[in-house]
Amino acid sequence: MSNKMHLKLTVNGQVVETLAEPRELLIHVLRERLDITGPHIGCETSHCGACTVDMDGRSVKACTVFAAQAQGAEITTVEGLAGPDGMHVLQEMFREHHGLQCGYCTPGMITRAWRLLQETPRPTEEEVRFGMAGNLCRCTGYQNIVKAILAAADAMAAQKEAAE
Ligand code: FES
Ligand code: FES
Repeated sequence: MSNKMHLKLTVNGQVVETLAEPRELLIHVLRERLDITGPHIGCETSHCGACTVDMDGRSVKACTVFAAQAQGAEITTVEGLAGPDGMHVLQEMFREHHGLQCGYCTPGMITRAWRLLQETPRPTEEEVRFGMAGNLCRCTGYQNIVKAILAAADAMAAQKEAAE
């Protein structure tokens, strides 16, 4: 007898349904059952942050969330950040400031930074470093990652001012 559960989630604004074992990890549900491969698998032990997604308004490491815990959740992955006009400003700033090298950590970095800038729209460098401490870059590109996030914060503030 299958012990799979019927899982219903909202991912990047779309309601999706699938069958999964309750103990299956959210990162596997996303990548293998829903074909959402932006979040990566690095350590699978909650250290690296490559699997970071947003769940109900908080950054989570999808390798530490069971499918059963994600029932009914609203998930945003890096695929959900771009708008109809193109890339999210964070994605643009990572490109402009060379915030990526191999790119493996980048989806998790950007998704975490997205939440960080919602919580703290004008962070100091120290706040960025602290807020990003759960995300590791094996290429050690931290200087440019921090630069890109600070530049995105400036650009988003300017956009907001222009819209007011
Ligand atoms: S794969 Fe989840 S924290 Fe490393
Ligand atoms: S850019 Fe290679 S791991 Fe971060």
